[in-house]
This record gives sequence, C-alpha cells and structure tokens, in this order.
Amino acid sequence: MCQNLRAMDEYDRREFLSLSLPSFLGVLTALPSLCALATRANAAEGRIPADGAMHWEAFLEAVAKEAGKQHLDAWNQDGYVDKIAQLASRLHLEDPVLTEGLAQLEVRLKQGKVDFQYLEERVDFALCLVQFDVEELIRPHDHPGMTGMILCASGEIETENFDPVELPDFETAAGRQLLKRAGRATLKKNDISTLTAKARNIHTLRARKVTQLVDIFTPPYNEERAEQSKWFELAPEPIQGHRDIFESEIS
Ligand SMILES: [Fe+2]
Repeated sequence: MCQNLRAMDEYDRREFLSLSLPSFLGVLTALPSLCALATRANAAEGRIPADGAMHWEAFLEAVAKEAGKQHLDAWNQDGYVDKIAQLASRLHLEDPVLTEGLAQLEVRLKQGKVDFQYLEERVDFALCLVQFDVEELIRPHDHPGMTGMILCASGEIETENFDPVELPDFETAAGRQLLKRAGRATLKKNDISTLTAKARNIHTLRARKVTQLVDIFTPPYNEERAEQSKWFELAPEPIQGHRDIFESEIS
C-alpha cells in the first residue's frame, strides 16, 4: 500500500509537470524548435552509428514527423505506435543525449528528487525518462485520448494492459468498471510496450530491478487529459467464469 501511495504521488507530480509546461511553453516554442530540429538532425547525420542505429536527433525528427500526422482525419493510432516502436527499436541507447539524461535522473534520485525527467516537450508529443526502484509500482491508470510507447532502456519491469469491457450478465455498480487483461509482459533492455486511446489504454507497471524507461506520449498530457485520467483498484482475483476479467474500483 505504501508503495502504491508513493508511486501514485510521484506519478501525479509527473502529470502536474506535464500540464504546466507543454500547454503553455510548448506553443510558444514549437516553431523555433522545429526549425532547430531540422538543423540539428542534419548536423547529426555524420554521427549516426555504423550499425544502422538511430542517433537521438534523427530519432526525434522521425517521431515528430509521425506525430504530426495525428492532426489528419485518417490518423491510425495502431499504425502510429507500431511505427514509433520500430523507430525506438533502432534508437542508439548509448547516445550521449540519452545517457546524460539518464545519468541526471540518477543524480536527482540520489538527491531525493522525482524519478522522471522530460527530455522533449512538444505540442504533438512528449518524451519522458522514468526510473523505477526495485519493486516500485505504478498502479493501473488510463491515458485519455492518448497513445503511449514505452522503451525499456535498462532493468526489468512487468507490465499489464487492460481494456474496459461490459458483460450482459454482470452488473457493475457506480464507480466500478470491468477490465479485461489485454496483455502481460516483462520488459528488458530494448523491449517495447505500446497502447492507444482505444486498445490497451489502461496499464500498470512493477519493476523487478532498477529500471529506466523512455516514454513517448502522443498527444502529450495537457490540463484536460490530466483531469480526465483515472486510477483503478483491481480485485485480486478475476470474476467467476472469466480468466482475464477483473472488477475494479475507479478512483
Ligand atoms: Fe502510464
């Protein structure tokens, strides 16, 4: 329970930061940052590792290009998360931008500060580094109207994803929701997990080792999406006759 509270507190702070910065500063900085990005990406060409892995700036430019498509009527979220997962699988994890970001995160943790850090905050997406201590967990929560891609940079972490469901023969009381487990995995270095607004949108994470994740949210949290976010307390056992469906209390 203490772990729950601790994790929730930290996650709330993560959301608080995400809504205070991008919604205001993101709009102001988007245009110069796009121009700067193209320049930085061009400058990075000569530094792309020989094994085909993507340099950080090239990776960001490619994600930005894909994330920009969310404004099209025909945006396909499943296709999008697959695409950025492919890009993330090519990301050079030893890129100095990333290793320095993760090192700073470790320093902040030792100073007793929060365990996450935004590396990029744009209008279309946000990229955040997150570090978990052993056995630290984030209990089930949703991401309203958002997609998410998690790349494990180091460590080992269990993930479970859920979808809300309704059953004709099961009446749920107010404030309760049936959740069907849509997937369960243990992520190690270079493994990826994705969710969209309509599939696997609710997830929970529990670290087996000290773990570092690269999270990309598209679109990023804003005030409205943060306010709509819900947390769920799952029953320990599934409902009778359904192996993967759990009753939950919405908090
Ligand atoms: Fe999440």
